[in-house]
Amino acid sequence: MDLHILEHRVRVLSLARRGLWLYTHPLLKLLFLPQRCRYRPFSLHHPPLPPPAPGDGGGFGISSTDFFFFRCKFFSLTETPEDYTVMLDEEGFKELPPSEFMQVADSTWLVLSVVSNGREPPGCQATGVTKIARSVIAPLAEHHVSVLMLSTYQTDFILVRERDLPVVIHTLAGEFDIYKEESGECVPVTCDDVSNGFLKPKPAASPTLHPVQSPQTRFCVLTVAPDTLPAIATMLIDVLFYSHSSPPWESATSSQDLDSITFFSFSLIEGYISIVMDAETQKRFPSDLLLTSSTGELWRMVRIGGQPLGFDECGIVAQIAEPLAAADISAYYISTFNFDHALVSPCPSPGTPASPGVSPGADSASVPRQVPEEGIAEVIQLLQQRQESSR
Ligand code: ARG
Repeated sequence: MDLHILEHRVRVLSLARRGLWLYTHPLLKLLFLPQRCRYRPFSLHHPPLPPPAPGDGGGFGISSTDFFFFRCKFFSLTETPEDYTVMLDEEGFKELPPSEFMQVADSTWLVLSVVSNGREPPGCQATGVTKIARSVIAPLAEHHVSVLMLSTYQTDFILVRERDLPVVIHTLAGEFDIYKEESGECVPVTCDDVSNGFLKPKPAASPTLHPVQSPQTRFCVLTVAPDTLPAIATMLIDVLFYSHSSPPWESATSSQDLDSITFFSFSLIEGYISIVMDAETQKRFPSDLLLTSSTGELWRMVRIGGQPLGFDECGIVAQIAEPLAAADISAYYISTFNFDHALVSPCPSPGTPASPGVSPGADSASVPRQVPEEGIAEVIQLLQQRQESSR
């Protein structure tokens, strides 16, 4: 496995529900037109960028220097009961005007992704964070690196603070060949490149026990071909911005309500689209345009955190991903501004027996075990027990 440090420098922010009106237009642009050039009326601090193609702006008396290419390559938007979390690169970030409704996490985050190099031993079929729990998540937690996770249909992105990069490289260089993407090229990174700044104090603090909840809602993890995005655009706009069950000045659902939870995640990263939505919402979309894995499984959510988790604490993802990996349970993991969310897959066919006691590795050559519907309670129990025993 190789580890790629992607080029994007990502900001993480929260948009309050009641301020959504102010952001609907820039968000629509980021969702549907991420590569438009745009008129530059005020943004004189931007470095000059190539002028638009001939013809753009023609007839309006606007010269080509009034434009710059706006090109957001990393964009993710996740709606939760509390707010909308946006993770996006600096290009995209410039599109969102600051306001009282916007809270921005202080750091710039870099994006890591584990990439197969074709030299892996066969048999490792677990997907999502389960696959990278031991090789990436656990070592980073041990070295006190705070991460944010963004699983998508295609892959799992691990976000680390830019200033933690030296520690990250030192920590993971044993396990991976590390490459840095620079202007589209992959440049090998060695530990010597980052010899400064590795030392980090290691207070042996015991991890905090964060409560976990599991709403009844079932989710699907989907993708759409980029050229079919226009065909679902109206529905997406409706679902994301205009389908609130409660007035915008209130949270969508009380977080105490465990029957259902509002959660919708859309990402457009380097041209790949990934969508997580609940099964009820999925029914509103034309079924032939949303693509999912052949088994079409539905996922149950484990939401982590009672109070907002913040950005400094490390080891939260590890507390969840490690027990899931030990039990060979596939999971997606999505961090938002306030909370973390793991999606674990219940078995589509109700007849399949639960086997949470199976010894790790016993079936490692087969498809990873999915958790039957009734097994979700056991998964949550498993997570709670592991959290308690790690105290
Ligand atoms: N930083 C945590 C960790 O390293 C995970 C993120 C929790 N915070 C959040 N705002 N979602 O495990």
